[in-house]
Amino acid sequence: MRRILIAGNWKMNGDRALAKTLVQACAQSQQSNPQVDIAVFPPFPLIPEAVAAAAGSAVAVGAQDLSAQLKGAYTGEVSAPMIHETGASMVLIGHSERRQRHQEGPELLTEKLKQALAEGLSPIFCIGESLQQREQERTEAVISQQLSILSKPEFRSQLADLVIAYEPVWAIGTGMSASPEQAQAVHAHIRGLLTKLGARISGSVRILYGGSVTPESAAGLLACADIDGALVGGASLKADAFAAIAAAAN
Ligand code: 13P
Repeated sequence: MRRILIAGNWKMNGDRALAKTLVQACAQSQQSNPQVDIAVFPPFPLIPEAVAAAAGSAVAVGAQDLSAQLKGAYTGEVSAPMIHETGASMVLIGHSERRQRHQEGPELLTEKLKQALAEGLSPIFCIGESLQQREQERTEAVISQQLSILSKPEFRSQLADLVIAYEPVWAIGTGMSASPEQAQAVHAHIRGLLTKLGARISGSVRILYGGSVTPESAAGLLACADIDGALVGGASLKADAFAAIAAAAN
């Protein structure tokens, strides 16, 4: 059985006070919904505050990105061991905002995935098609392409704990969530691709949906067979809304 994971990507929002408040609310909602896993992804400087607020609870804290390098002259970058040392245990890789605005492509993302796995950080690997790609009926091809790096032999033994987040670019921050049917169709495609990597991997890898998830849309999405949770942006910055999404996972 795959446990539902509700993850909040705060993006470049919040301050130390908000981090504390939000994580404390997450800890409460985790206690009220013990069968749901909850994780938050604050900006780097807020990770220590979030880790401190999460202490003694089952709330996991992660980073929104990591360097593809281990150390050295890479101004502005943050390595996997540095993230780990803050107490974070997870990391987002390949969010569309980084793919688009920072030109992150398959080679770089392969290196980032290697760094995360080598350090024992649990990655959430983000994928998703643009509106144009969907309109051209290329969604499945784009998803297959984005996931192709997982078939590299060096990753095979390490994928069972991987989390994938399907976030259609056209649904992010637009208020226009994919319908449960649209999301489930892509999640089923992803599950099919994972089957080629082995039954254990396809059975255990969690596939989250992300893109304008709200308390109203969450229950319908989370009821789908291959949707194992949500990666929430805007609504994760409001304690009540995020708690309602976690409760909808019940
Ligand atoms: P929104 O929930 O604000 O659409 O953001 C989704 C997202 O990008 C999460 O990573």
